[in-house]
Amino acid sequence: MALDENMVIPGHVALILDGNGRWAKKRGLPRTMGHKEGCVTVEKTVEIAARMGIRYLTVYGFSTENWKRSAEEVGALMQLFRYYMVRLLKIASANNVRVRMIGDRSRFAPDIIEGINRLERETADNTGLTFVIAVNYGGRDEILRAARAYALDCVEGRADPNHLTQENFSGYLFSRGVPDPDLIIRPSGELRLSNFLLWESAYAEFYFTDVLWPDFSKAELLRAIASYQSRAR
Ligand code: IPE
Ligand code: IPE
Ligand code: MG
Repeated sequence: MALDENMVIPGHVALILDGNGRWAKKRGLPRTMGHKEGCVTVEKTVEIAARMGIRYLTVYGFSTENWKRSAEEVGALMQLFRYYMVRLLKIASANNVRVRMIGDRSRFAPDIIEGINRLERETADNTGLTFVIAVNYGGRDEILRAARAYALDCVEGRADPNHLTQENFSGYLFSRGVPDPDLIIRPSGELRLSNFLLWESAYAEFYFTDVLWPDFSKAELLRAIASYQSRAR
């Protein structure tokens, strides 16, 4: 499928990375191999999105609930995270991509936190695509933290509850400064949000596909965008 010149490119596309485990199982491989392949697909998708002129791309890579997986799987995901952060720095620099992480990074190992900070710091001045990675992210956790921070500001006299608006509450979220997603894509056949961008998705369009994340291609992304475009907004 070619990119239609008249295609309206959504400003912010958000992706729930799902189906890595099933992708591996289908091939008789360990789940970790599915995650590894999923990371390759993330890299490709960042480059494709940057070239297409998408302004914001968010990927949900690790939820607050994912800590409940086996220690072995969580450990393998952390190792992959370490490895791909280094690669991502190169990809971001080569494609003028600014990287941002949303979620509670404090629960990660110190070297991962430093890696995240470094990625954000060294890509902060890039002016192309903003690539937002949601890790140890949960929509409810995000709203709760915002409420807590806001309440503290009220108690300490920095904010007045009578003047709270949606705009200034948004400023307390991890996603502050990032426009709401226009299109949320979930591969692998599941039809749920799994605690992703609960506040921010208020007006998002949704696209679901049975394709497993590691198999997600440029053609699939274009199909999602074409479907988004065909809906009256
Ligand atoms: C998504 O793939 C990756 C993460 C949530 C870390 P899954 O690991 O959820 O894959 P399935 O759903 O078991 O196929
Ligand atoms: C959603 O996938 C979370 C991420 C992609 C990070 P899961 O596979 O963890 O979600 P559930 O358990 O199917 O809802
Ligand atoms: Mg899953």
